[in-house]
Amino acid sequence: MRVVLGVGGGIAAYKAALVSRLLSEAGHHVVPMPTRAALEFVGAPTWEALTGEHVSESVFDRVDTVNHVAQGQAADLVVIAPATADLMARIAHGHADDLLSTTVLATSAPVLLAPAMHTEMWLNPATQRNVALLREHGHTVMEPATGRLTGTDSGPGRLPEPQDIVDAALALAARTAPSSAGPSDAASTGSASTPDAAPSTVAAAPAGAPTTDHVGSDPGLLAGRRVLVTAGGTREALDPVRFLGNRSSGKQGVALARAAREAGADVHLIAAHVETDLPHGMRTTRVSSARELEQATLTAAAGSDVVIMAAAVADFRPDTVGEHKMKKSEDGTDPVIRLVRNPDILRAVVAQRDERGLDQLVVGFAAETGDAEHSVLDFGRAKLVRKGCDLLVLNEVGTDKVFGRDENEVVVLSARGAEEASTRGSKDEVARFVVERIAREESVGAAG
Ligand code: CTP
Repeated sequence: MRVVLGVGGGIAAYKAALVSRLLSEAGHHVVPMPTRAALEFVGAPTWEALTGEHVSESVFDRVDTVNHVAQGQAADLVVIAPATADLMARIAHGHADDLLSTTVLATSAPVLLAPAMHTEMWLNPATQRNVALLREHGHTVMEPATGRLTGTDSGPGRLPEPQDIVDAALALAARTAPSSAGPSDAASTGSASTPDAAPSTVAAAPAGAPTTDHVGSDPGLLAGRRVLVTAGGTREALDPVRFLGNRSSGKQGVALARAAREAGADVHLIAAHVETDLPHGMRTTRVSSARELEQATLTAAAGSDVVIMAAAVADFRPDTVGEHKMKKSEDGTDPVIRLVRNPDILRAVVAQRDERGLDQLVVGFAAETGDAEHSVLDFGRAKLVRKGCDLLVLNEVGTDKVFGRDENEVVVLSARGAEEASTRGSKDEVARFVVERIAREESVGAAG
């Protein structure tokens, strides 16, 4: 794959050298494209030695080849790391004042941006608006990592780890490849035990199907609260065209995001793969794999009052992602896929909250069946303790209680030992009920 590596002018430019190395080691052809400011931090000889490519930041170099158009057309993928505030602003607004910005305008390849800047710059409304605009244009903007910045300060704004950037870039290339596998090609794996999961016998609504955008939550219930919701099913790449996934439709998670917004919350929705429209009036982040979801969730959770973990996270992923499409072998031997465990995101959110002493309510989901000795409630209570969350929204699944329908039936368990609350109804009704339960739990927490 031919990867244009755009490098913005920030101190994290030196880490882009490692991104370049990792991409080359994975067998990709890297075309480095530092901006003029980036060359102040890491000079052209470094990029030329690493990649064997001539380096220039100007459109007036190699004019005979119309370099920016040639590079844009030849690219299979564009990765920009670090994406500085200025570079994102220029790309978001279609500026074309150097080789990188013109190449991005001229390409139809997927574009991944890995931001790096000080927390204040990242959180500045101008930057956030530009990020939203870039995402609207179809670019993928990673969440910056949280941690030590240039000086002694720390917070969100750190460049994601080079390996994470490369993983996100390859996953983006895999899911946007022209022959990308559709859901029918996907094997099913891991956790389909959230209420988003739909059984194979139930046809999920196609993407783009009309959705009701009104849930009916009481507008003051979560006024001013910052609520993070995850929704949908993760996909774990096997090779550039195949993935392991689950049948989550994302409908319950999206209904929860709408219900929280109607209750007055400032909502951030992190959506993995969903089969419903994403709602307006909130910040949305798209992710694909469990590890992308983990990174985006932990970063966003650091600034949230409530975290609702409704996503169906694959418990396992293939331990290697094939660089090329897996072929049938001549000698008739079949491939063996080794799976490794994915991180438990819900537990990581709880651990982060406890480590940082955050005043945060964490809500998990579980779909369970009972067995000869244990009821669904027994399993639910055990999971509530194991995950360490404050509330657990529990579905009973089984032959007569098919989950994934438009009707849902849940019991909400509380770690405080408060009375169990149950409801049955449409996903919007269940979402409203859960939001009311969250508001009640929050007010009890504030009073206690
Ligand atoms: N979850 C998560 N990370 C995972 C798996 C699950 O954050 N790797 C979250 C889900 O979003 C959900 C909750 O954990 O809110 C419970 O999901 P479930 O699949 O029931 O949890 P598991 O730990 O996989 O439980 P089990 O062993 O019963 O499959």
